[in-house]
This record gives sequence, structure tokens and C-alpha cells, in this order.
Amino acid sequence: MKYKKDPIIIGIESSCDDSAVSIIRSRKILSNVIIGQNIHKKYGGIVPELAARLHDKNLLKAIDKSIKLANIKKYQIDAVSFTIGPGLIGSLLIGCSLAKSLAIGLNIPIITVDHIQAHTLIHFIENGNINNSYPNFPFLSLVISGGHTLIIKVDDYLHMKVLGSTLDNPIGEVFDKIARKFGFSYPGGVFIEKYSKYGNFKKFKFPKPLVKGLNFSFSGLKSYIFRFIDEKLIKDPNFLKKNLFDLCASIQNIIIDILIEKIHKAVIKTKINRITLSGGVSSNERVKKVFLFQAKKNNWNLFIPNNLYTNDNGAMIAITGMIKYHKKQFNSLNVTPYSKFKYFIN
Ligand code: KG4
Ligand code: ZN
Repeated sequence: MKYKKDPIIIGIESSCDDSAVSIIRSRKILSNVIIGQNIHKKYGGIVPELAARLHDKNLLKAIDKSIKLANIKKYQIDAVSFTIGPGLIGSLLIGCSLAKSLAIGLNIPIITVDHIQAHTLIHFIENGNINNSYPNFPFLSLVISGGHTLIIKVDDYLHMKVLGSTLDNPIGEVFDKIARKFGFSYPGGVFIEKYSKYGNFKKFKFPKPLVKGLNFSFSGLKSYIFRFIDEKLIKDPNFLKKNLFDLCASIQNIIIDILIEKIHKAVIKTKINRITLSGGVSSNERVKKVFLFQAKKNNWNLFIPNNLYTNDNGAMIAITGMIKYHKKQFNSLNVTPYSKFKYFIN
């Protein structure tokens, strides 16, 4: 294999429902294609088997399209990076097999990428964040997505340690489940944000979960909100309709409060005040606004991803692949995906 200084890397992401493929040259995006799966909307959440079947159909299309958009020939690609985990095992297996086939066909190496590490490293893409700068090490990464709620200490590109995680539901899933109760389709976080804009976030007070250290817990809060709404509905069947905006705003507010409180703790504990956000929930405008406010107040150096790269995408896989390429961290074709996340990512 011939090592290049500015290789072209393809990134393939298939850990959940998005078939996402991106091609980059060094840190620059040449193409970024995402084919979503609308079928899950009617189920209010991802159905794993359907997700895998649709990846089988969509990933090849996404690869073809990304090569066309990048305006390259496929033999110009220098390495294939892909998500090896964590995620839905069926979906990961489809991406893994396809990546291996592509690598064999083009006679180039494969590079496995951890999905969480990739969300964190999105800030190293050119224009990956709204700051237009790369964070210096060490920094704290807050990953808030449908599958994860994590505070990670990032000492170097590939040296990360999870300081805190959710003990039960991930934050995005909480948004999705509450939204489903309100009758919204998946992904619910978008609807909660939309209706929050018209609501009073001080109208309803919900109890903050008491969790030690830097871990999170959302299941108690979620159950409390469900019970609260059910009890109100018994007295007034129109309760939801009448209070939808205020409920959305109050729920969004308590969830953001929990995040801010934990990050405060993490900054004090680690004495690191550089913070990056990533994951689907970091596209929420209110999340960004409150974090920016707190950053100014507390002298944090806050990095917010460009909206193109908050949700699952191939660019984050490609940039992590690029970093590993330069460290010559290639993999054998024997690798196999893992579904559970790892506390130490090296
Ligand atoms: O990062 P992502 O695309 O997938 C995972 O790795 O899980 O995140 C998807 C999650 C969904 O739960 C969705 O409801 C949430 O991100 N989300 C939002 C918003 N946009 C997406 N949550 C709150 N506000 C939003 N604007
Ligand atoms: Zn993700």
C-alpha cells in the first residue's frame, strides 16, 4: 500500500437508521450523502430488522452517489473507513460487509471506526463546527444523541475516556418517547423543539434526577412526566391540547438544565474548560443558546457542530478514518462489529 499525505477516504455509517456515506480529501468534504429511512416514523422508533434491510438497499446507492458528487473515480479512493460499533448489530453488519467488499474490489485497506469517537471528532472536519476552528486537547466532549448521553475526556484524537454516561435512557430517546406520547412521529426531538418556541418553559416544574458524579439518568423523569400527563388527562381530556407548547418548553428546559449541571461538574472536576457538543440533540437551537450563554458566563471555550454534522453522517466516520490512516491504524478483514459502547476508546 502506498501511503499518501492527502489521501481520499470514504466513510460509511450504518449504525442506526441512516445510510450515510461521505468522501473526504484530508479534512475537506468532497461529498456527504445521507439516505434516511422514513419507514420508522409510523412505529415511533427504529425497528432493527427493517433498518438492516433498508441499509442493504440504500448503502450502495449512497456510495455511488457520494463518488459521483465527489467528482472522483472510485480507484482514487485510498482507504475505506466504516462504523464498527456501537449500534444495531444487523445494520452494522451490512455496512461492515459492504466496506470489506469495496476494499477488496479496490485493493485498499479498511479502517474501523467507533461511532462515539466519530461523533466527537466531527470538530476536526474543515467547517465541521460553527467556530471554524479545531479544539485543542484536552477537551470535554458531550455526546447527546438518540443512542447515547456521554461526557468524554478527550486527551488526544484517539485517546478518550468516558467520565459519565446515562444509566438508563439516552437523551434523544427520551425526547422521542415523550414526543410519541404527544402524537408526534420519529424523530420526536425536532417536534419538541418546534413547539417549545411558542411555550412558557417555567409553566411546569419537573424534578431533577439525583444521580451522583457525572452520570445521567432520565427514566425517572420520563416516568414522572408520563404519570403527570396521565393524571391531568383524567381530569381534563383536553389537557394536552391546551398545554402542548408549555409542556414541550418545560420538558426541553429541564433536560437542558440537567446537561448544563453535569457539564459544570465535569469542568470543575477535570479543570478543563474546552467543551465540544455533538450528536443529534446538539442541533437543538435552545440547547445551543443555553450552552452559549453558560459558556460566556463561566468562561468555557464551547465548540458547536455545524448542523450538517450533528446527526449521524459519513463525514465523521471519514475524518476518524483519516486520523487513523495517518497513524497507520489499518484493520484486517477479520474484524466484526460490536453493539455495546466502550468506556475507553483507543
Ligand atoms: O446522532 P443521531 O442522529 O443518532 C444517534 O446516534 O442516535 O441522533 C438522533 C436523535 C433522535 O433521538 C432525535 O430525536 C434527536 O437526536 N434530535 C433532537 C433534535 N434533532 C434530533 N432532539 C432535540 N432537538 C432537536 N432539534
Ligand atoms: Zn450517532
